[in-house]
Amino acid sequence: MRGMILYDLKDADKNSWFIRRLQEEGARHGHLLSLYIAENKQEEINHSAADFCINRSRHAAFSTLFENAGKSSINNSRTIRIANDKWQSFQLFQGLSLPCMPTFLPGNEPAFPFVAKSRSGHGGSEVFLVKDAQSYADVKKRLKDCPYILQPLCDEPGVDVRAYVMGENVFAAVKRTCKTDFRSNYSLGGQVELFAVTPDQLSAIRILQKELNSDYIGVDFIRHKGQWVVNEIEDAAGARMLYSLTDIDFIHLYWQQIEKRLKEGKVCG
Ligand SMILES: Nc1ncnc2c1ncn2[C@@H]1O[C@H](COP(=O)(O)OP(=O)(O)O)[C@@H](O)[C@H]1O
Ligand SMILES: [Mg+2]
Repeated sequence: MRGMILYDLKDADKNSWFIRRLQEEGARHGHLLSLYIAENKQEEINHSAADFCINRSRHAAFSTLFENAGKSSINNSRTIRIANDKWQSFQLFQGLSLPCMPTFLPGNEPAFPFVAKSRSGHGGSEVFLVKDAQSYADVKKRLKDCPYILQPLCDEPGVDVRAYVMGENVFAAVKRTCKTDFRSNYSLGGQVELFAVTPDQLSAIRILQKELNSDYIGVDFIRHKGQWVVNEIEDAAGARMLYSLTDIDFIHLYWQQIEKRLKEGKVCG
């Protein structure tokens, strides 16, 4: 089959090795995968040139185009839309009764110290610790016109767990710890180690997965009041951390899941 892999320009550069490996492995399975730089959100893709898409651009609209034409998007548009909006994610977690941080919109600020994050950010670059009114004023300037959410600071900052979820399976999890920052993102220098997901984490992941029917996501947890609470879903999760810790053949697993989706031929959005 013919697939289109969608990336923003910046991410395509960073992930060129991964894209090439995915194309090579796809070719071995008889699939031709072409890269499409999905920089302009308004631009309509010529989806008739492909039978499915792998959307790693974080823009759900591209997936909707494929789905409306009866084609599979990996991940589906709903997963991408929710995962890239922290307010929608919170609403989903709450609707599913999953443990999560209390989350607020501007105008309804929790007590200091709290965390402010842009709704669409990733990699920790738009996540700020707000200690007082002055730092809130500074953070608001830095967030400029980005819509953002607010959460109390969790009571074990600097630690989180990412579970890697392929279809129904959690195939690995890592714990990330940062001693110098409340944010534990790997890209910000967090330390990583393999981690065995707890039964409670697993049950939250199963509930999410049943709801989203995604192909490949990261589910992140932070620690609050003695339990792991769901922090976010990462739909364009890479596998860099895993490569540094395991010899899991991620590309192979990914193609297995893609083929399963294509065989099922089910389109969801
Ligand atoms: N409410 C919070 N309290 C304490 N630390 C937090 C909170 N929210 C996020 N963090 C930390 O900041 C990091 C980045 O925040 P996150 O919500 O994951 O945004 P991003 O999508 O940019 O990664 C998390 O991995 C976690 O370590
Ligand atoms: Mg994160």
